[in-house]
Amino acid sequence: MNVGLKTQILPAGEAAVAAAARCLAQGGLVAFPTETVYGLGADAANAAAIARLYQAKGRPSFNPLIAHVSDLRAGMRIARFDAQAITLANAFWPGPLTLVLPKTKDCAVADLATAGLDTIAIRVPAHPVAREILRAFGGPVVAPSANLSGHVSPTTAAHVQSDLAGRIDLIVDGGAVAVGVESTIVGCFDAPMLLRPGGVPRGEIERVLGRTLVQPPDDPNDDSAQPLAPGMLASHYAPRTKVRLNANRIEAGEALLAFGSGTVPGVDTATTVMNLSAHSDLAEAAANLFGYLRALDARGARAIAVMPVPHHGLGEAINDRLRRAAVGRE
Ligand code: TXA
Ligand code: MG
Repeated sequence: MNVGLKTQILPAGEAAVAAAARCLAQGGLVAFPTETVYGLGADAANAAAIARLYQAKGRPSFNPLIAHVSDLRAGMRIARFDAQAITLANAFWPGPLTLVLPKTKDCAVADLATAGLDTIAIRVPAHPVAREILRAFGGPVVAPSANLSGHVSPTTAAHVQSDLAGRIDLIVDGGAVAVGVESTIVGCFDAPMLLRPGGVPRGEIERVLGRTLVQPPDDPNDDSAQPLAPGMLASHYAPRTKVRLNANRIEAGEALLAFGSGTVPGVDTATTVMNLSAHSDLAEAAANLFGYLRALDARGARAIAVMPVPHHGLGEAINDRLRRAAVGRE
């Protein structure tokens, strides 16, 4: 177990980018900001580094990782893009979209990173620090969210530190991220499939493709079939405190995660109130979501009551993460 490492924290900048590239090349683990959430990077071609990464996160190794590359051309060295995939890449990269594609024959990414699947998840991040690190390193970097497995994803370097200090080599601090929920994952199968709602709303993808995205088979814990998005376990983005969704009143001892300008009966008795977006702005709500869940979790309330969030646009990804936060804690 790689606990007891000295984790260095560097502010984003030239020195940090050089240190990150050097560390990755030596098989180290580097947390860095992307526009969605902080990622925990390792050299995608280095199986030993990837084994350490799974260990540091406490993540099951059958849950494959996303390979981050600097551009479409670099992506084409590790995956086969059909016309549809190229259309999506041109429309949304760099940005919060991940494509699941067939691996190329000579794909340099270690089998451990793809959990033995013959497909690979790829994305080109938009965050300037992530892009500089990818450019300086010069190869694909696998990066799951930089949290302990099962915890809420990190949107600041402090979140990364609280989960992973002592378990990883370096944290590059680039401030709070802009999007706040993970990338949208689309499986580029014969019928393109929405494997995970995320930072690019479904409607924008469907508009570019000129067709609707199909849904994966319903039960994410049904392991009888080949899992399409193996990481989409029902309970995943979980705070320790019980989460109660669609709250239309507050019970004694509950904290309130509010949305919009409305209010709910019992709000005066809430131990704490945080509002995802007082003007009902879904982009603002997404950016605040994981940080507020962490903050409310730290208050030790009896439960976190969550007001309803509309389901359109980024609301689909927000509600997906809230539903997972609530599973098993009803
Ligand atoms: O925004 C993001 O995507 C962030 C930042 C750091 O880039 N990364 C992220 O990675 O959310 P992670 O590991 O937390 O989630 C990756 C998801 C998992 O649910 C995994 O099962 C799925 O992608 N995945 C990876 N490879 C896959 C594949 N070949 N087929 C289907 N799903 C795959
Ligand atoms: Mg994650």
